[in-house]
Amino acid sequence: MSTLHPRLGQTAARFIQREHLLLIDGQWVAPRAGGRFEVEDPATGLLIAQVAEGQAVDIDLAVAAARRAFESGEWSRCKPADRTRLLLRLADLIEANGDELAQLEVMDNGKPLAFARRGIAGTAEMVRYMAGWATKLTGEAVPLSIPGQWHAYTVREAVGVVGQIIPWNFPLSMAIWKLAPALAAGCTVVLKPAEQTPLNALRLGELILEAGFPPGVVNIITGYGADAGAALAAHPGVDKVAFTGSTTTGKRIVQSALGNLKKVTLELGGKSPVFIFPDADLSAAIPGAANAIFFNSGQVCSAGSRLYVHRKIYERVVADIAAYGDRLQLGHGMEAGNDLGPLISKVQMERVQRYIDSGRESGATLASAPRQLSEQGYFVPPTVLADTDARMNVVQEEIFGPVLCAMPFDDDDLSAIAGLANDTEYGLFAGIWTQDIGKAHRLAARIRAGSVSVNAHMVNDPALPFGGFKQSGWGRERGREALELYTELKSVAINLGQA
Ligand code: NAI
Ligand code: MG
Repeated sequence: MSTLHPRLGQTAARFIQREHLLLIDGQWVAPRAGGRFEVEDPATGLLIAQVAEGQAVDIDLAVAAARRAFESGEWSRCKPADRTRLLLRLADLIEANGDELAQLEVMDNGKPLAFARRGIAGTAEMVRYMAGWATKLTGEAVPLSIPGQWHAYTVREAVGVVGQIIPWNFPLSMAIWKLAPALAAGCTVVLKPAEQTPLNALRLGELILEAGFPPGVVNIITGYGADAGAALAAHPGVDKVAFTGSTTTGKRIVQSALGNLKKVTLELGGKSPVFIFPDADLSAAIPGAANAIFFNSGQVCSAGSRLYVHRKIYERVVADIAAYGDRLQLGHGMEAGNDLGPLISKVQMERVQRYIDSGRESGATLASAPRQLSEQGYFVPPTVLADTDARMNVVQEEIFGPVLCAMPFDDDDLSAIAGLANDTEYGLFAGIWTQDIGKAHRLAARIRAGSVSVNAHMVNDPALPFGGFKQSGWGRERGREALELYTELKSVAINLGQA
């Protein structure tokens, strides 16, 4: 009997059930050691596919292919407009296969189909945005003041072979956020998707071949973090590693990178604060703050997981956000009407449940209504913990589930409020809800985080840089900055001789 959801389309079902190999040098090949690992549907816990388990030897082959492709110059030194054209073709293919990609995302990751569909549309736009930069990566002429006559200029060149290691919370988007700027800049890539969600990266590999990218420009190795991931991060033939995931693994990657001092960019965890002031438009702030934590079941690095509400409105706002969460319907992502899917795995479900228990043991009160969930799948209901305080683990550590820690603030002193925001080792994101725009700007300036949004949450535009202060990471994704981080800057000075 098939373990696939009955609503799944034929194309997606056929893809899931086929043999899955590694993409190396433009060919689908079996892993050298012949291993396989299993992929499960997190909404049922049932096994749906087997994929190739790539290991260090496969990473070696993929890096060698990426190196040959880079050195040949067919991609790194081709006309920038040719890179634009191929990327635009890829964007069209993503769009044309959007229904299938969305369904694969649901089966692999668990999120509701409507959200997966929107995410896929967003990835096509990200590819188009980055495609446009290929022709706009300019250097500048630099006037020199030393004696003599000079023509000096800078140029941006592709950094080289890039290893990209991505997480499971937005499988296709994370692949595209990494690949698109690297490819636009002229790099060649070895991509390692998360072991929990390998399917969409593999389908993307097919679309990349269909678009006509030269062999070896994109290589895709499915496998475990401790094997394939670690081998890629440590590889002496890799010029840069770009990682999204936990802060713990990010630190390991930095250590692995020491060997050849490869460039490193990291997009890591967060414990992002959301502030609701008494003058906020609560009809927007309440659903906004609720979605900031419940969207994607809280498996979002920029989730608004610490909620600070002014004491004047604290009771009401917390009750309303909890009630909003109580109304969200949980279930299989392929079934219409569900707002939230499961967490990605049993491990994550148990981790999140442990956090909820630990919060309650340390004195937090549960503002959400208790719920009876089905036995199957890795579901955790939206959970609002009220009366939390800064010393609790649940307030300090990234939970990565639909768990909100609510706290009142009574100060009107912005430096005290900024102190609350900054009382964390992370610095990824912060949300501010107020009608007083001057106050919003003043507070935004005091918050140590890579992104701040005012009267909105998770503003997700390809042009807007995204990344972390403090232990939330190094570098930026999206925007021109993402692209520049896939380049090296070279300066050239030419002695023009005597007049
Ligand atoms: P992880 O950071 O261990 O995994 C992310 C990626 O890194 C996966 O592709 C994995 O295979 C790879 N990886 C793991 N160990 C590696 C190593 N030693 N060398 C190279 N690559 C390695 O995250 P995990 O274990 O799946 O989730 C644990 C926690 O991480 C979550 O509870 C959450 O707090 C956080 N997380 C944060 C994400 C974010 O977007 N910032 C995304 C996923 C997880
Ligand atoms: Mg891990």
